[in-house]
Amino acid sequence: MSLAETQSRGEVTIRDLAKSFALDGQRLQVLRDLNLDIEAGESLAIVGASGSGKTTLLRVLAGLETADGGQVLIDGEPIQGVGTERAVIFQEPRLLPWLTVLGNVAFGLESRGVAKAEAQSRARHYIRLVGLQEFENAYPRQLSGGMAQRVGIARALTVQPEILLLDEPLGALDAMTKITMQEELARIWHDEKVTMVLVTHDLEEAIFLADRVLVLPKQRGAAPRLIDVDLPRPRDRNEPGFVAMRRRLMAEFGLH
Ligand SMILES: Nc1ncnc2c1ncn2[C@@H]1O[C@H](COP(=O)(O)OP(=O)(O)OP(=O)(O)O)[C@@H](O)[C@H]1O
Ligand SMILES: [Mg+2]
Repeated sequence: MSLAETQSRGEVTIRDLAKSFALDGQRLQVLRDLNLDIEAGESLAIVGASGSGKTTLLRVLAGLETADGGQVLIDGEPIQGVGTERAVIFQEPRLLPWLTVLGNVAFGLESRGVAKAEAQSRARHYIRLVGLQEFENAYPRQLSGGMAQRVGIARALTVQPEILLLDEPLGALDAMTKITMQEELARIWHDEKVTMVLVTHDLEEAIFLADRVLVLPKQRGAAPRLIDVDLPRPRDRNEPGFVAMRRRLMAEFGLH
């Protein structure tokens, strides 16, 4: 692969993006004139009040929802629906109950025509990465919530996407599992060098994982704000810079 190619993989360009929905015979304008460049390999968090359009934006980036104005480009090319260079991780992992952990993780590759043995060997690599090697023969019903979510992450990584789109992936987990998983996500992002777009309502999670945080305003029509998280990695939640950043982000929401 040429240097130019390696440099451009996973870059997202959002131009004048607009999205509205029909609601009670009116148009609900959820996104308006959104412009944003996400660098290849960057980690961007999206935060905002409930209903501010976080999931809508992520679904447009995933190609699951069409915009009604503007464009999304991946490495300079306009997206057309879903694409293999993007993988989405939802709050619930939505595993296939009749397949084992190995079967679920290998499924995406097998359905793309990769031979079973090769698919399973690549799946095993990512199962190890999320620490579930002891459970590859377990079925989804035999897993805890955090383990099931790790299977979802392994499944998304196995197809080697350039861009990982996550919608509150840790929202359903207990506080302790959540912290462990945040550390795992930070490590995976670093090792896999993927572009990561993470929707979260957890400001600490945003600061822990992101290079920049996009704050979607509650008031429709107000401009979104972008905040740089200029803190060394790996990040320490108790370090003064981290605490100051949390305070600053809370202030964006009028919280103290
Ligand atoms: N398919 C749809 N049809 C109509 N309205 C929709 C649709 N999807 C989303 N909306 C509306 O768009 C707005 C933004 O919704 P979205 O799900 O993007 O919010 P969110 O920021 O992800 O909220 P939360 O934090 O609660 O997940 C909401 O007012 C919602 O009612
Ligand atoms: Mg949402």
